[in-house]
Amino acid sequence: MRNPVPDYLHEILDSLRDDRAGTVADYIPQLADADPDVLGVALAIPNGRTYSVGDDRVEFSIQSISKPFAYAAALIDRGADAVDATVGVEPSGEAFDELSLEGGTHRPKNPMINAGALAVHHLLAGDDATSQDRVTRIVEFLSELAGRVLTVDEDVYRSEIETADRNLAIVHMLRNYGVVAGSAHAVVDGYTRQCAVRVTVRDLAVMGATLANAGVQPVTGNRVVPAAVARRTLAVMAGCGMYDAAGDWLVRVGIPAKSGVAGGLMGALPGELGLGTVSPRLDTHGNSVRGVAICERLSRDMGMHLM
Ligand code: DON
Repeated sequence: MRNPVPDYLHEILDSLRDDRAGTVADYIPQLADADPDVLGVALAIPNGRTYSVGDDRVEFSIQSISKPFAYAAALIDRGADAVDATVGVEPSGEAFDELSLEGGTHRPKNPMINAGALAVHHLLAGDDATSQDRVTRIVEFLSELAGRVLTVDEDVYRSEIETADRNLAIVHMLRNYGVVAGSAHAVVDGYTRQCAVRVTVRDLAVMGATLANAGVQPVTGNRVVPAAVARRTLAVMAGCGMYDAAGDWLVRVGIPAKSGVAGGLMGALPGELGLGTVSPRLDTHGNSVRGVAICERLSRDMGMHLM
């Protein structure tokens, strides 16, 4: 019997094929060379079945979609108290690359903005971790989530690190406030490698499905994330995952999600499914224009809104 899901997904992509709104990120030089017409979508359900259409085998850098997973890894490695002492859980209402620190504590407001993600990266792999330990930890963790060995795109890494002045400035401020210890360069270096990990929409869908599935990877059956960590990660994604568009996203789409500047978007609907999309043209918030449109369509047609 023919499966209607791929036909439906093809129909959604076809309806968006001519939408050329938005611009490819160019503050990371390597990303400016991306093919702006790439368009793909994947859905993964808790029994491990994954549906994907369009450019579903094209690899792109995970970028900020690594942030919720690094947050989950830091919660596992250091416990909630240590993580809470370093980063908050409140939406910043500001762009992803603003400093956005809390008054008083000087903690970054949440782990989805760059300031919070840089602080979280520095917590990875325990107290005496080296920068290499942190990179190994996050790349292996992302690989476990995807169910295959993921690797760093060295060209994207090099291109971003050469122009990473803003992230370096953020970590220097965090060091000044005592939120981050050790070398600022090592933190930015490791975080930039974390962001340069290559994924496909199928990987993102399965990784999202793992969070949606209370931490059990649906294809391998492995428990990769404790249930309480998966729940907390989804909660922070819901509130902060789409940056200064987070409120609008929650009203229009209603699925905990995270976007990345390479054009990826990952969503996780608790108990139901994970989804991944790619389309490199971004809106003014840094979210993929057609990725957001795909999610809006899925949410509306399939009653996927949480509320
Ligand atoms: O740190 C940065 O600016 C990038 N490596 C990641 C930013 C990002 O993906 C923002 N998301 N839309």
